[in-house]
Amino acid sequence: MPVITSIDDLRRMHRAHTPRMFYDYAESGSYTEQTFRENTTDFAKVRLRQKVAVDMSNRSLASDMVGLPVSMPVGLSPVGLTGMQRADGEIKAARAAEAFGVPFCLSTMSICSIEDVAEHTAAPFMFQLYVMRDQDFLAAIIDRAKRANCSALVLTLDLQILGQRHKDLKNGLSAPPKFTLPTLMNLATKLRWGSEMARTKRRFFGNIVGHAKGVTDAGNLAAWTAEQFDTQLDWAKIAAIRDMWGGKLILKGILDADDARKAADFGADAIIVSNHGGRQLDGALSSIRMLPEIVAAVGDRVEIHLDSGIRSGQDVLKALALGAHATWIGRAWLHGLGAMGQPGVTAALEVIRKELDVTMALCGERDIRNVGRHNALVPAEWGHDYV
Ligand code: GLV
Repeated sequence: MPVITSIDDLRRMHRAHTPRMFYDYAESGSYTEQTFRENTTDFAKVRLRQKVAVDMSNRSLASDMVGLPVSMPVGLSPVGLTGMQRADGEIKAARAAEAFGVPFCLSTMSICSIEDVAEHTAAPFMFQLYVMRDQDFLAAIIDRAKRANCSALVLTLDLQILGQRHKDLKNGLSAPPKFTLPTLMNLATKLRWGSEMARTKRRFFGNIVGHAKGVTDAGNLAAWTAEQFDTQLDWAKIAAIRDMWGGKLILKGILDADDARKAADFGADAIIVSNHGGRQLDGALSSIRMLPEIVAAVGDRVEIHLDSGIRSGQDVLKALALGAHATWIGRAWLHGLGAMGQPGVTAALEVIRKELDVTMALCGERDIRNVGRHNALVPAEWGHDYV
């Protein structure tokens, strides 16, 4: 077993072991990828204030997310096609998260279905919903999440229309892959991936195929997705979904202070400050850069989470210092899964936990819930350099 010291180690293994179309799907942003890049480079601009000669024994990373206890404030973000990165990927990731004591959120566009993940886990997981036009499908999938005892609904607001990722088009992304010559040549170098995939029955979008009218294969599905995402999603529809769901509701994809105020007025249980990992509006500012403005606007009224750009425990601490109550990782855990399956997801969480713990201690804090603005240094113009 290789010595894993950082998420980047897992990323390199993920790339080596995974068919190119799925690795590229994970590791891309939309269009020029400016926002994708700045999500990580802006984290590097936030700096930490070193403190010495303070008691750093008995440290605690334990916190809560929407009222649920967590061993550290880091959730596993929903990622589409996870079961294509590695066979049965969603089940493996959910099990790793459960053992670690952090939330796992299953994507609508997952390969393993809600029922399948529920059957193979004991702890409730969260469910991420894309709002579709097909009202029967929408009502049914909300009902399925309720029956699976999902602990919260994470409603994605920033992907009613897809930002183009050039590589997905060039690679002919589909689930399962279509056997073109370049794809076959690439698959021939990913033998472990192929042999695991040959042994699972989970190779299609499990929440959709067999549940949505007329969708029986992946070809149909692509057309159905483009047609079905509801481009008329607005606050009235969000309210209707809240009524159908009746449980905890997290609104994902808020990047603007006015939108955050609307979400707080609406009474969301939490918002996730996010630009979808740089996969949607290319040219948007990074999540970490937008965070202080949103915290100033609604920090006392709604629980604020952040995703997009977190690749280390230092990044988690920086987000908390700038006012997030909790964070979410996507690519960081996906690299672990692609590298080594379930133990790889655990390895990714371990890397982040250790980095977070040491960084917190060197900042002079013993309890993650006490981390705040006093721990961070930001460039003088941060947040005001664009108007
Ligand atoms: C879907 O959520 C995507 O970003 O591809």
